[in-house]
Amino acid sequence: MKLTRARSINGRLRLPGDKSISHRAALIAALARGSSEISNFSTAQDCASTLGCLRSLGISIEHRDDKIVFAGSEGLVAPREPLDCGNSGSTLRILSGVLAGHELTAELVGDESLSSRPMRRIIEPLELMGARIESTGGKAPLTVHGTGSLRPITYKLPVASAQVKSAILFAGLNARGRTSVIETIASRDHTERLFNGFGVPVTTNVDLSVTLDGPAQFTGGSITIPGDVSSAAYLVAAAMLLPQSELTIEGVGLNPTRAAFLSVLSSWGADVSTTDEQVERNEPRGTINVRGGLSKNATESERTLGQSMIPSLIDELPLLAVVGSQIDGGIRIRDAGELRLKESDRLATTAANLRAMGAEVDEFPDGLSVSGPTQLHGALLDSHGDHRIAMAFSVAALLARGESEISGAECVSVSFPEFFPLLESVVKT
Ligand code: S3P
Repeated sequence: MKLTRARSINGRLRLPGDKSISHRAALIAALARGSSEISNFSTAQDCASTLGCLRSLGISIEHRDDKIVFAGSEGLVAPREPLDCGNSGSTLRILSGVLAGHELTAELVGDESLSSRPMRRIIEPLELMGARIESTGGKAPLTVHGTGSLRPITYKLPVASAQVKSAILFAGLNARGRTSVIETIASRDHTERLFNGFGVPVTTNVDLSVTLDGPAQFTGGSITIPGDVSSAAYLVAAAMLLPQSELTIEGVGLNPTRAAFLSVLSSWGADVSTTDEQVERNEPRGTINVRGGLSKNATESERTLGQSMIPSLIDELPLLAVVGSQIDGGIRIRDAGELRLKESDRLATTAANLRAMGAEVDEFPDGLSVSGPTQLHGALLDSHGDHRIAMAFSVAALLARGESEISGAECVSVSFPEFFPLLESVVKT
């Protein structure tokens, strides 16, 4: 994909449904009594992986008009083939939690990137609950031997991970008694919100523990998934950095555990606001309005991202590093070692691509420091097959002098297949 400098981003749009919420809504609809209808389901390849796995487990799923219709659970059946999770960590990890509580054996496989990511973080708690999981040195392929008599556990998460928390909570649906997951830093809470929205008794306590009383039965229903705020982030950042821009994105998810980048961009001087806020099934959504240009210089503490801020910014950090290269004084990211364990080593791939464009970057084991402001120049950029790297550096390419080429840019379809056509529709050159 070749990209050149843009003058502004102008337009009004809506985005396909949030990837994280879509995975969870599909799993809930698959396990619920009675039928469910999901509107604005994510178009991400990752979510198609979740639907494919559910179909292999005997769940009836139909695309009707612009909705996905689930007939409702008659129980899961043992799959005849390995369940293909593709590139999707959420599919593999959260579905393992579902399978742990069912009396069947299933193999879960993924692509090369997913097969290199750590899975002990789910194997340990799910085995404590009574499932048995074979792995390849703590990585996929995994074979989950589920059981109908799962034990509830109280489990303190060693890493802040919504996927691990969700795997345990989905397993807890089938455990007899109270399952508690204790977080030290809050991660995205879509599972808790959706469980509550569908009548599953789950409570988030002041000490950041989440408790669920199982076994839990619940009824399906209809839900409209809010637009994906992590996809919106690329367009918002590009609009903020191109001074003549004016962009409105309607119906976007504004869950505080996901939309924290909006406050960060505001603290860096961006003119970003949210309006028309509504709530459906406990998930807030609304309109994001952005005008180009920076109205103030950020303080050093505003330009430092670390500790408890990290989980709610986790998927936006490569993009924030790109934005940081345009901010007076640059930015620092710390306490983000988890980024090395994503679809690519996002600290290394972000640093390498920023350097290729002329930015000054220091890389630490758990973060980056990016100098700014820097006039970026066009370069050959490597997505490393990582959708968030491809999109973050597409934004960088719009700011750069000269042409940039992003290799492997088609990987954006993992989360946002419409990214390039949509970008083209709002970019003015
Ligand atoms: C996700 C949680 C995060 C995030 C990923 C989606 C989820 O991963 O990076 O893109 O849907 O729960 P971790 O749980 O590994 O932090």
